[in-house]
Amino acid sequence: MICYFSGTGNSKWVAETVSSALAEPLVPMAAYYGADAPQPTFELGATEHVGFVFPIHSWGIPPLVVQFIERLQIVNNPHPAVFVIFTCGDECGYTDRQVNDLLAQKGWTSRHVYSVQMPNNYIVFPGFDVDSKALEEQKKADAKRVLPELIEAIKTDTPMTHYRRGSLPYIKSRMIYPQFCKHMMSSKSFSVTDACTSCGLCAKLCPIGTIELVNGKPTWKEDCTQCLSCIHHCPTRAIEYGKVTQKKGRYVYK
Ligand SMILES: Cc1cc2nc3c(=O)[nH]c(=O)nc-3n(C[C@H](O)[C@H](O)[C@H](O)COP(=O)(O)O)c2cc1C
Ligand code: SF4
Ligand code: SF4
Repeated sequence: MICYFSGTGNSKWVAETVSSALAEPLVPMAAYYGADAPQPTFELGATEHVGFVFPIHSWGIPPLVVQFIERLQIVNNPHPAVFVIFTCGDECGYTDRQVNDLLAQKGWTSRHVYSVQMPNNYIVFPGFDVDSKALEEQKKADAKRVLPELIEAIKTDTPMTHYRRGSLPYIKSRMIYPQFCKHMMSSKSFSVTDACTSCGLCAKLCPIGTIELVNGKPTWKEDCTQCLSCIHHCPTRAIEYGKVTQKKGRYVYK
């Protein structure tokens, strides 16, 4: 099973590629998010893995994914073969250590924790923007080359090293990431402009159902994973995050 979470499609593409190469089913982690959601409980086939594929958020694991991994139950295998693939725009800090600690709490380990660099979708903080078209294409081409190698390593259980830690991991993962989880899981800075055509795509694609169309315009409930699916997928660029995104680019994986 390949458990995935994705805002703008990078991790979904990785998850779908891995799922088809290993012939193992996809499980959307967002379907198990929230107080009323069912406990994720699964039985594994004899050679089946538990794979996790998701984006790096603020040099750490998105809280939705943390919650999923904590609650996940595999009823017929106490020590499944686990692999983890992060997608990142640039670097992952100590997310590998965070994931290993999280797995250890379940009595699980993983010999395969990898990162794949993909186009950046983080635009809601000053100084961060999408990549140039050339860099976007370069990253996608590099990812297409490396992903089969990672899949082969997982299939044959031959671990390889493929991880972008980057600079100052302690500050980014141990100091900034907790602040991100504490203060940023909110939709309060989103707004919609007159460019909205009431197409409903933002609401349809929000992985946790936070957006509702009221009188044809999106309104946001409080809860938000900051996946940025809504702002990037809007076909008329009608969604902004405060003022900071007015001059920023938009990106979805195609
Ligand atoms: C809230 C948020 C925080 C992010 N933080 C990081 C980061 O710390 N390091 C990084 O390399 N990329 C970061 N990114 C970029 C994404 O990890 C990257 O673009 C990823 O491939 C997006 O995957 P998706 O299309 O499946 O959502 C961040 C993106 C978001 C939305
Ligand atoms: S995706 Fe954009 S145009 Fe469509 S309803 Fe949402 S804000 Fe309006
Ligand atoms: S409101 Fe937007 S950023 Fe928040 S979870 Fe929904 S799609 Fe993602």
